Amino acid sequence: MTELARIGVTGLAVMGRNLARNLARHGHPVAVHNRSYSRTKELVEEFGHEGTFFPAETAEQFVASLERPRRLVIMVKAGGPTDAVIDEFAPLLEPGDMIVDGGNAHFADTRRREAALRERGIHFVGAGISGGEEGALHGPSIMPGGSPESYEALGPLLEDISAKVDGVPCCTHVGPDGAGHFVKMVHNGIEYADMQLIAEAYDLLRRGAGMEPGEIAEVFRGWNEGRLGSYLIEITAEVLAHTDAATGKPFVDVVTDQAEQKGTGRWTVQIALDLGVPVSGIAEAVFARSLSGDAGLRTAARELPGPSGALAEPAYSLVADVEQALYASKIVAYAQGFNQIQAGSAEYGWSIDPGAMSTIWRGGCIIRAKFLDRIKQAYDAAPNLPSLLVDEYFLDAVRGAQDAWRRVVVTATQLGIPAPGFSSALAYYDGLRAERLPAALVQGQRDFFGAHTYRRVDREGAFHVLWGGDRSEVAS
Ligand code: 6PG
Repeated sequence: MTELARIGVTGLAVMGRNLARNLARHGHPVAVHNRSYSRTKELVEEFGHEGTFFPAETAEQFVASLERPRRLVIMVKAGGPTDAVIDEFAPLLEPGDMIVDGGNAHFADTRRREAALRERGIHFVGAGISGGEEGALHGPSIMPGGSPESYEALGPLLEDISAKVDGVPCCTHVGPDGAGHFVKMVHNGIEYADMQLIAEAYDLLRRGAGMEPGEIAEVFRGWNEGRLGSYLIEITAEVLAHTDAATGKPFVDVVTDQAEQKGTGRWTVQIALDLGVPVSGIAEAVFARSLSGDAGLRTAARELPGPSGALAEPAYSLVADVEQALYASKIVAYAQGFNQIQAGSAEYGWSIDPGAMSTIWRGGCIIRAKFLDRIKQAYDAAPNLPSLLVDEYFLDAVRGAQDAWRRVVVTATQLGIPAPGFSSALAYYDGLRAERLPAALVQGQRDFFGAHTYRRVDREGAFHVLWGGDRSEVAS
């Protein structure tokens, strides 16, 4: 019988509880603690047979039951509750001990907490954990930040309980301080974009092609067998095939059409704005949720006119085209997300390996998808790839998809079906490949009203036109 627990989990709501069970099932004696002891007791009563649990009633007991250096995982709500738990436990710890925050914390908070605890000799590890409650129990994708020393002590445990793909754990040291939570934030941003694109595909098939949810579920099941194969496509088919027991209607028709959000997608966009990285797919997804949720505005705008006249039925196969548009737009969303990771890494000096991120996202997490293998191959071949879109495989995929992608955007526009994800992805793509952008005109406007100066294509230096005078050019 082990005398001490190898690791402890405090905060036994569903994620914390399942993570503790996962650790116990893997043979790691685990101390468990919760603000109200009843939850701790329940966990041990119900699942005590799964492994070795050390139930603790108080913070002191909890800390005393951990082997040294202590590994303490906190699974509480981000923000104030996390600070409160840190304040409660930090005074009970010793230099060399580790606090792991497995919640969805903002990476700036993680940086602040890491710096403060480092002064006291305590390692603070912000670890993104993805996969929902099932993932926490059966194998999540884990994105730990913090010091390399802390990863030496924690890595083997975390890798052990993470999902595995081809025998490779979906967990790796992301980088110092807030790197893990930053990457988890971008993961969630990509999750938003992916969900929005899938929702647009559904809307086009429902309202554009006139298909029923059950039929669309079958289409998604088919897609899931191909290059779009992913957890989100798979669960979409399940949701669409589900019938509401109370009414006998398709489940999707009895759910309010107002999407909620807890904030990680919004953070991704806010940070992308600061970093100057266009994550338009994620931004459109966040805004689409906001628009859906603004019931008052939507009611006020209900009478806005739609497309006039009878629209010709699309003469081509919308289903096949939407598959192409979805794949191409998905590539754009991931390309943008990975660019944000590269920009964050450069800004904060994290040296994040994008190939390693695609590796640990192949299993366990919400955005796990077949094509993450392709992303891994792309970054393994060229770690500094400027965009996934210029990788040979993705370039070919987009080349093959683009005609259909354009037709889908045209059809959506003609039918008056909003497809902000598909169309903004296409606009980004066209923006990237443009030889000349109208930004030249924007520079001219800026110089006209504010003497903000511009650069020339043919000479070095900054210039200004005397717009209010003889319109001659002066070097500035
Ligand atoms: C995960 C998820 C999870 C997130 C939910 C809800 O990786 O397991 O990203 O962390 O909390 O997806 O997010 P929203 O409520 O913002 O949609």
